[in-house]
Amino acid sequence: MNSLQDKVIIVTGGTSGMGAASSLHFAELGAKVVAASIQREEGVALELKIQEDGGEGKYVYVDVTDEESVKRMVAETVKTFGRLDGVYCNAGVWGKGLVTEFDERIWNKVMGVNVKGSLWVAKHCIPVMEKNDKGGVFLTTTSVAAQIAFPAHALYCASKAALEALVRSLAVDHAGKIRSVGISPGTIETPMLAETCDGWERPIEELYEEVAKKIPARRLGQPEDIARTAAFLMSDAASYINGTIIVLDGGTGPLPPW
Ligand SMILES: NC(=O)c1ccc[n+]([C@@H]2O[C@H](COP(=O)([O-])OP(=O)(O)OC[C@H]3O[C@@H](n4cnc5c(N)ncnc54)[C@H](O)[C@@H]3O)[C@@H](O)[C@H]2O)c1
Repeated sequence: MNSLQDKVIIVTGGTSGMGAASSLHFAELGAKVVAASIQREEGVALELKIQEDGGEGKYVYVDVTDEESVKRMVAETVKTFGRLDGVYCNAGVWGKGLVTEFDERIWNKVMGVNVKGSLWVAKHCIPVMEKNDKGGVFLTTTSVAAQIAFPAHALYCASKAALEALVRSLAVDHAGKIRSVGISPGTIETPMLAETCDGWERPIEELYEEVAKKIPARRLGQPEDIARTAAFLMSDAASYINGTIIVLDGGTGPLPPW
């Protein structure tokens, strides 16, 4: 049902966490995958893994905050695979802090990667996909932080709310050619989640266990949970899902487990 046979798909942030799981899963389902990120070492290892598993994939360096770098990623994709059918716009960073501590550094980090980066990716990928007879899919990773006020994360929350608005705007502005969809993850066990636990006095395993108990699914989300949903949204089986965002939080809803 979720075949991605011969679709050419870029995954930004495609070499870690949920992006890496998605790159691998898309390749398993027959896609030609470009895993793009700032992580060269992880990228080379992932490219090798895709190929060892019998798939087609390539690592391309991209810094999504840099328009020229994004242009090069798209050009490299088209040069290698001849077309572009889907983009999983997933690169993101986390940033802690109160608004009263706000400065240019945190703006450039969080808004630079999460919002400006997504806009550059959309700007340069969408016209290439619009040339296809069947158009393409633009999938964005948002976050439950767009809807929930995580304490001391105002800028991160705002950046993800901006992405939710972008999902809807792209669906309207590129109607008939681009299907724009989002995934809103809850608590997913990735390197980013581990980073958010830095500075806590308790061991990470203990923290994770406690959080898992508060999630109705009784476990943390895994990168593969995201990858399976991303594959479905990328596939033709999801052709009537547009301008909307799927929440993957194990049932946490309005009760954040933190
Ligand atoms: N882990 C969670 O619980 C969670 C929850 C909600 C949303 N998210 C979102 O999911 C997405 C993926 O996060 P993850 O948890 O897999 O984290 P991760 O840290 O494992 O992966 C982030 C990826 O983004 C890439 N990246 C960062 N800055 C970049 C830049 N300037 N240019 C290109 N690539 C860049 C990194 O290289 C990495 O590959 C992010 O957008 C994050 O905000 C995560």
